[in-house]
Amino acid sequence: MRIDLPEPTSAEREHSATLQGFIRNEIAAKGPLPFSRFMELAMYAPGLGYYSAGKTKFGAAGDFITAPELGSVFARCVTRAIAPTLRDIGAHSQMIELGGGSGAFAEDCLRELAHLDALPARYSLLEPSADLRQRQRERLQQLPAEIAERVHWIDRPPDDDWQGVLFANEVLDALPATRFGIRDGEVFEEHVIDAGGEGFVSIDLPAESFTANAVRHIERDLGHGLADGYRSEVLPQLPYWIQAVCGGLQRGMALFVDYGYTRREFYREDRHGGTLMATYRHRAHTDVLSRVGLQDLTAFVDFSALAEAATRAGFRIAGLGTQADFLMANGLDVVFAQAYAAAGDEAVRYRLSQEVKRLTLPAEMGETFKVMACER
Ligand SMILES: C[S@@+](CC[C@H](N)C(=O)[O-])C[C@H]1O[C@@H](n2cnc3c(N)ncnc32)[C@H](O)[C@@H]1O
Repeated sequence: MRIDLPEPTSAEREHSATLQGFIRNEIAAKGPLPFSRFMELAMYAPGLGYYSAGKTKFGAAGDFITAPELGSVFARCVTRAIAPTLRDIGAHSQMIELGGGSGAFAEDCLRELAHLDALPARYSLLEPSADLRQRQRERLQQLPAEIAERVHWIDRPPDDDWQGVLFANEVLDALPATRFGIRDGEVFEEHVIDAGGEGFVSIDLPAESFTANAVRHIERDLGHGLADGYRSEVLPQLPYWIQAVCGGLQRGMALFVDYGYTRREFYREDRHGGTLMATYRHRAHTDVLSRVGLQDLTAFVDFSALAEAATRAGFRIAGLGTQADFLMANGLDVVFAQAYAAAGDEAVRYRLSQEVKRLTLPAEMGETFKVMACER
């Protein structure tokens, strides 16, 4: 399907050309790049990648909108779900938010935690993008001092054991995905090469055992092999990543929200092209090797893989459900009624009802987005 995408500005083209040069140099030095490495560079190459550079990513002027960017309803309901855990842990509780985006979630969550008398001793943001960190800092320093003083930025998960809540909205979908294909029963991995004037193109190379084993594990769990020509994504690094980010969480909850499916649904026969997507100015398309550094790249999450990784890291899966069900089970009606009563005029009330529709309707975020809670 052809999608007409808006043309990048000349400044954007120039920026993308610099990043493409950077990636070309790596290909020249190392040979074909696994797609996951291409994605990593396109998104996070220092100062150049989509998330590392200064491009407006969120909201109407950006490329996509996330639940916390729609308004405060999402963050307030999530906060109601996690507040009891933080309160139980008490004075030394901590909260870590991975990939805080514009800081919208942190702001609304901290205000609600203060309102519910459940503020953690520290609220840490682990944000790899220097640009987003700066935006978060500017936003969160506007909070009342007794809240703002609890906010910190960390470069990596804490080395020491800690207790509290780890939260990540739309972070797993941004992890560099490995693209694989099946040919004559063998597993191939998609690599990216430089085709000169034609930009980057992908080729298949026999998969290394790390990737092949991850695909074989999926097939074993499905109870059948994936068909010849089948192409999809996998995150072979997920168990290590989960161990790294949650390993120190000795007591509390890790809550992940993202679009995705359980494994049987993810690797359905008819989903033979995978779930990888590029988003450019609110248009989703599959030309993931174009507009390098100017568009978001994401893949859906295999929640069965997440459950396996979390279990291996010592967690119990406390729940997996749709975002709509999660929000309704965590005070959506109360939050909506309070916000509705506080709304100054009809325009605010209209925006509020639109926000709730976007968050909950099946054709919007309500069903595609899932919430997984892991406890220890
Ligand atoms: C789609 S945005 C979501 C932002 C925010 N959570 C929201 O819902 O608006 C993805 C975020 O994840 C961050 N991110 C990507 N990889 C990460 C990682 N390995 N650890 C922590 N954050 C990461 C990005 O920099 C960005 O802030």
